[in-house]
Amino acid sequence: MKPLKGLILSGGKGTRLRPITHTSAKQLVPVANRPVLFYGIDAMAQAGISEIGIIIAPETGEEIKEVAGDGSQFGVKITYILQDEPAGLAHAVLTAEPFLGDSPFVMYLGDNLLQGGIDDLVAKFKQGEPDALILLTPVPDPEHFGVAELDGERVVALAEKPPEPKTNLALVGVYMFMPLIHDAARAIEPSPRGELEITDAIQYLVDNDKRVEPHIVQGWWKDTGRLDDMLEANRLILDRMESRVEGSLDSESAVEGRVVIEGGATLTRATVRGPAIIGKGATLTDCYIGPYTAIGEDCAVERAEVEHSILLAGSSVRGLDGRMEASLLGRNVHIARSVGQPKAYRFMVGDNSDIGIL
Ligand code: TTP
Repeated sequence: MKPLKGLILSGGKGTRLRPITHTSAKQLVPVANRPVLFYGIDAMAQAGISEIGIIIAPETGEEIKEVAGDGSQFGVKITYILQDEPAGLAHAVLTAEPFLGDSPFVMYLGDNLLQGGIDDLVAKFKQGEPDALILLTPVPDPEHFGVAELDGERVVALAEKPPEPKTNLALVGVYMFMPLIHDAARAIEPSPRGELEITDAIQYLVDNDKRVEPHIVQGWWKDTGRLDDMLEANRLILDRMESRVEGSLDSESAVEGRVVIEGGATLTRATVRGPAIIGKGATLTDCYIGPYTAIGEDCAVERAEVEHSILLAGSSVRGLDGRMEASLLGRNVHIARSVGQPKAYRFMVGDNSDIGIL
C-alpha cells in the first residue's frame, strides 16, 4: 500500500459553539489549554503519517494556519486546502483530491478527540486493506449521529441522523479510505440539508459491493462541537495529565492533586484543586480554582471561585459572590463586580451569548 496521507477537516460553520465561533475557529478552542485540532495532528504524527492536509474555511483559515504553521512543531508537513463553503464532509474530500491523489488516507474531523490515538486503526487498515474502515461507538442517542448497521465484519447500511435508528452504533469522526472514495463522493447528490454527506458516499461503496469494515472504539471519543462536550473533553484530558508546577506560589497558596501551573503564572493566596491547568502568565489572587478547570494564558482570577470551566487567553473574573461553574469564556472576556450603587447587573455581551444567573 502507498503511504497513508492525513486529512483533517477544520472548515465548517461551528454554529453550535457560537458566540465563540463568531470570531474564532472551533477547532482552536483549547482543551486543557491546547487547541482541539492539535490532538488530531498528534494522533496522525504518532501513527507515522507525515503528510497532512487541513481543510480550512475562508473565515477562519488564516487563524488556523497561524497556529498550526507548517507542521514542523508536530514533526509533519501540513498543506492547507481552502474549501469555499461548508458543503459537507464528502465535499471536503473532493476539495482535497488534488492533495490526496491516489493515496489511501485517514480523515479526522478537526473538532473531535479520540482517546488512545489511531495507531490500532491504521494497523488494521493496512493489514486488511478494505475500501473503507469506519470507527463506531455505542451511544445512548444514536438519532443525533451517523448510524451504521453491521453484518459481522461488514457494514451493510448507514444513515445520517435517522429518526428511528436501527442500531446504537454511531460513526466517530475518524475514517480510513482507499482513493475509491473520490468516485463515490462524485457519484452522490446533496442531502436534504444541502450537504454532500460522507455517510452517503460510504453507502455508495456498500451498494457497489465494496468492502466497508467497522472498528469499534474502545476508549472514549468526543465531538467537541457543543459546550457540554467541550467541558467533558476538557475533563477527560485533564484527568490524565502529569502534574507540573513551574509558576510561582506564595506561602499562602496551595496546589492539590493533578495540577499544571505553567511558567510565569503567579498564585497569591490561591488554592488550586486539580485536575486543573493554569496557563502562562496567569495571575490568581485570593481565589479558588476547582477541579476540571483550564485557565488560559494571561488570565486573571481574583476574589472568585471557578470550577469545571474553560477560560480562553486574556480573560478575567473578579469579585464574584457565587462560584462560576460549567462555563466557557472566550478571549479577553472580563467579568467583574463593580462597587457602585444601586446594586445591579451590567453586561456588554456579543450576539448569541448565554448568561446564566443562578
Ligand atoms: P460539523 O460539526 O458537522 O459542522 P459545522 O462545523 O458546520 O458545525 P455546526 O454544526 O456547529 O454548525 O463538522 C465536523 C467537522 O468537519 C468540523 O471540524 C468542521 C468540519 N467541516 C468541514 O471542514 N467542511 C464541511 O463542509 C463541514 C460540513 C464540516
